[in-house]
Amino acid sequence: DGEVYKYYADGEWRASASGKTVAIVNPTTRQTQYRVQACTQEEVNKVMEAAKVAQKAWARTPLWKRAELLHKAAAILKEHKTPIAECLVKEIAKPAKDAVSEVVRSGDLVSYTAEEGVRILGEGKLLVSDSFPGNERNKYCLSSKVPLGVVLAIPPFNYPVNLAVSKIGPALIAGNALVLKPPTQGAVAALHMVHCFHLAGFPKGLIGCVTGKGSEIGDFLTMHPGVNCISFTGGDTGIAISKKAGMVPLQMELGGKDACIVLEDADLDLVAANIVKGGFSYSGQRCTAVKVVLIMEAVADAVVEKVNAKLGKLTVGTPEDNSDITPVVTESSANFIEGLVIDAKEKGATFCQEYKREGNLIWPLLLDHVRPDMRIAWEEPFGPVLPVIRINSVEEGIHHCNASNFGLQGCVFTRDINKAIMISDAMESGTVQINSAPARGPDHFPFQGLKDSGIGSQGITNSINMMTKVKSTVINLP
Ligand code: G3P
Repeated sequence: DGEVYKYYADGEWRASASGKTVAIVNPTTRQTQYRVQACTQEEVNKVMEAAKVAQKAWARTPLWKRAELLHKAAAILKEHKTPIAECLVKEIAKPAKDAVSEVVRSGDLVSYTAEEGVRILGEGKLLVSDSFPGNERNKYCLSSKVPLGVVLAIPPFNYPVNLAVSKIGPALIAGNALVLKPPTQGAVAALHMVHCFHLAGFPKGLIGCVTGKGSEIGDFLTMHPGVNCISFTGGDTGIAISKKAGMVPLQMELGGKDACIVLEDADLDLVAANIVKGGFSYSGQRCTAVKVVLIMEAVADAVVEKVNAKLGKLTVGTPEDNSDITPVVTESSANFIEGLVIDAKEKGATFCQEYKREGNLIWPLLLDHVRPDMRIAWEEPFGPVLPVIRINSVEEGIHHCNASNFGLQGCVFTRDINKAIMISDAMESGTVQINSAPARGPDHFPFQGLKDSGIGSQGITNSINMMTKVKSTVINLP
């Protein structure tokens, strides 16, 4: 049961010598949809070796040629949007329209990366010595950006294509090789995406894609001596990786508890629309989803009423039907969400809708009057359930936001721009959106988390820079 897919090594599609596969369960049907290879450590070693060899030649390939191949891959990716989106629907229950958007956005991201790369990597620096005390003008320092070597990319299930290319594109344009370990849910969409890079004609071995159980090859990959950089997006695993990884640059985005602070003077229709979009799109399974609403008491009833009216109009069902709310990715995820909901109920939260679940499908739920002793006030459900905490001062809202161990994004709704800027300054989050829900895109914007939300900054330009190091040559005149 389940169509079997091969992994990608040295420019070829291969079956693992393990003879084993990993099942990908369709979140909607809860049946095995696909199977991917359970790669062995020996196979990982081969992919790493091939990447190392291919990278040396790739780094010497002219930048414009690297860009040309990326543009080609971007175009092929867009041409293949339908079959790739179909995998996203079956593997991660992403609504069909959003699945297509993810692939198109990914093609655009790869093209932009190619353009940005030729500009920023085409520039170097010249320094002269006599600006530092005691020096004559006899030393010229030429520096430029050189690749790191082999980049290991580990994207999450919620954007298996987009958050893979946001690592692959910058790595390749900068002259690195790339080894991809896709998430299990989303692995087949990622393999299709890799196939687009294969069709574009990248050199053999430069890109490798290994699939398998994290328990068997996860640590082996992240601790592999052949890895020169790790770019990871996901959950707590990232913290474990950062403790075990070698002395290599790490780029990590590990989730958030994005707060939405609503002031009395806000445009309440705008607030309600953004709470619903920010909290419930892709059923809340986004790192940047609104995960806690902090509303000034004076406008709380009005906002809750407006949000409830909109939630009542959301469609709940299958991704094939383009329902707004679709099954969450796994049964264990649904159980975790349910645990948070039950805890809040027991501690006295007001349920604005009836809690309803069928299999992995959870109906949208707004929880009002949530208090700090409830788990849902702090933990990330990654599902269509959203807590509202009523506040009596802006300081109370900022305090709740900053007491979180996360610090990815946040948002504030007010018509007073001075207040908005002051609140943004006070919020310990990588990004604060004024009068809009949190979001990573447009994809060239910097994207970073503070505290447990991550290390480093992403976004196209930052990722290209992060995947390079500075190399200097100093000319010493007599
Ligand atoms: O959860 C992944 C995170 O990067 C969100 O991206 O585009 O939904 O804001 P986006």
